[in-house]
Amino acid sequence: MAPPTAVPTTPVPRRAPVDPNLDLEAEIRRLKRARNAVILAHYYQDGEIQDLADFVGDSLGLSQQAAKTQADVIAFCGVHFMAETAKILNPTKTVVLPDLDAGCSLADRCPPDAFAAWLAQYPGHEVVSYINCSAAVKALSTIICTSSNAVRVVKSLPKDKPIVFAPDRHLGRWVEQQTGRAMVLWPGFCVVHEQFTARRLLQERAKHPDAEIIAHPECEASVLALADFIGSTTALLDHVTKSPKRAFIVATEMGILHAMRKARPDATLIGAPPDSGCSCAACPYMRLNTLEKLYVALRDLEPRIELPEDVRRRALAPLQRMLALG
Ligand code: 13P
Ligand code: SF4
Repeated sequence: MAPPTAVPTTPVPRRAPVDPNLDLEAEIRRLKRARNAVILAHYYQDGEIQDLADFVGDSLGLSQQAAKTQADVIAFCGVHFMAETAKILNPTKTVVLPDLDAGCSLADRCPPDAFAAWLAQYPGHEVVSYINCSAAVKALSTIICTSSNAVRVVKSLPKDKPIVFAPDRHLGRWVEQQTGRAMVLWPGFCVVHEQFTARRLLQERAKHPDAEIIAHPECEASVLALADFIGSTTALLDHVTKSPKRAFIVATEMGILHAMRKARPDATLIGAPPDSGCSCAACPYMRLNTLEKLYVALRDLEPRIELPEDVRRRALAPLQRMLALG
């Protein structure tokens, strides 16, 4: 897998070294109290980070938590666009991301200039942007969506208005199927979910004939066609928690297996194997965050997310439109 491409970052100052004998968990808890900080973590983070977080969720749940937190500091254990979303919602709070280079293939491959030029071809269209995009792209959008509310968001738009959807073409195609509305799709994809193939899933199902296949809508159509259930990370976790089935082949990033194993210790949970030679589907961006970097972020209140105020303000409106839908 290609190494993560860089999101625009500020130069990182040299940090004081971390004592290797430090009890990182205890120090993170102490600093969290001292700073009046909240730790928000996505399900794709390492289990040890999820276990320390105040809230673990999908992109929608995390943005809802960020919108209502009373903390002074948000330590965001996820990727850049997620922490940036927290900053859009909380301009006066300090938002830190343990590794500022934790980008996302969807956000990084939808540069705002190219996006603006592309949009110019579609005047009069509503612009629905998946939350996996930069603040500057959000600022060009009518409304934001996540994988858990994309269908609801598209259905909320006037029927007579044409729609462009960016930047995930697979999620976009799935939403087209669910809503019956044709959309113009930006050709982006997630480097993690694109590695799942129908061929490898069928091999896996032959080994586990009783297992349900569950998949994230960032997977391509041939993979989704095999899935018994499709949903965001939270929806997949809820499904596994409530399902009477005892085995699941899970086609999304492997970090979610941590929460699934806690919810269903009795179940067999199989991470769908990617078709890339790797044995597991790990997001290279999410993995950049570590316990040690989280400790440093709380200790130094760096690296911080900062945004030009005009971009932040323009990005806020489409985000609030999404949050108002509930
Ligand atoms: P959700 O958090 O909406 O499930 O999306 C998964 C993802 O890829 C986040 O980057
Ligand atoms: Fe982006 Fe895919 Fe990683 Fe999510 S899993 S952060 S969509 S690259």
